[in-house]
Amino acid sequence: MILAIETSCDDTCAAVLDEEGRRALSNVVHTQTEHERYGGVVPEVASRAHLERLDGVVEKALADAGVTFEEVTRVAVTVRPGLVGALLVGLAAAKGLAYARGLPLTPVNHLEGHVAAAYLAEPNLKPPFVALIASGGHTALYYVTKSAMHLLGQTLDDAAGEALDKGARMLGLGFPGGPALSKVAQGGDSGCYAFPVALKERNNLDFSFSGLKTSLLYKLKALDERSFQEELPHLAAGYQAAVVEALSRKLLRAVDLYDAPGLVVAGGVAANASLRRVLGGECERRDLKLVIPPPKLCTDNAAMIGAAAAMAPAVPYPDYLGLNARSV
Ligand code: KG4
Ligand code: ZN
Repeated sequence: MILAIETSCDDTCAAVLDEEGRRALSNVVHTQTEHERYGGVVPEVASRAHLERLDGVVEKALADAGVTFEEVTRVAVTVRPGLVGALLVGLAAAKGLAYARGLPLTPVNHLEGHVAAAYLAEPNLKPPFVALIASGGHTALYYVTKSAMHLLGQTLDDAAGEALDKGARMLGLGFPGGPALSKVAQGGDSGCYAFPVALKERNNLDFSFSGLKTSLLYKLKALDERSFQEELPHLAAGYQAAVVEALSRKLLRAVDLYDAPGLVVAGGVAANASLRRVLGGECERRDLKLVIPPPKLCTDNAAMIGAAAAMAPAVPYPDYLGLNARSV
């Protein structure tokens, strides 16, 4: 059994997986609500909240899986990228747990974890495929082979989730903005407002969302309070549609350029219903295999870290005590 821990941002997570890392027996996520009043994640607050919660989250992960700590055969933990203070809490806990029982420890890259969520959703999935990771901190396209993840393109400014969060904030919708924006957008017509999609050149696989935010700012400036309330759903729908178009356009282009038989979308933004609908339709039309894990596996969780660990080398006891966390 693998015990996996993830604390790279504002979710305190632990999970238990089978030894192959293809099945999660439990997947506990404690989402920190302390950040809501600040409108964004406060690193120091996140570290302290992880410290308070992690023991209980690990205990619940073992209990939910019906597994005792003595049955765990290896520990996995996110070591990068993320908030260093937050990562360190998880890493110190993982080292302590592994050391106490003389177990090996596998350090995991959070982004490889997001991609590995696809193997939990689709145990028969085989590389090569193109993968898009779209979260609050990252937007990157990879060509995934059996041995490596090759970076094809990434955002030049904001991450897609960050663009959604900032747009939602400008529209007064609270934090995290992605789900809130998506809900308001349901009642709107995405054709009412034209929002820009950047970097449309054919071979460009990078993303940029700063122009989109500026465009929203100018549209808002032109509205008085009454018309703002009326236009809110249309603005939300148009803004979301531009993010969805940017992501799906680049993803499908990468599939064409690399002649990939399938694609994977992961990260918090992959929970977006509109993105799932658009990509579902396109992939059906093009006869491509599309894997988007269920929303619970798309947002930060420890099951995906355990799944990635199963494919990565473990550091034997006690060589991992010197391991460090990294922000990038
Ligand atoms: O992967 P994740 O949980 O954490 C990071 O590693 O960043 O992603 C969080 C991001 C946030 O920006 C959030 O607004 C976005 O994912 N998100 C969504 C949805 N659920 C989460 N965006 C759009 N629609 C959703 N349903
Ligand atoms: Zn993430």
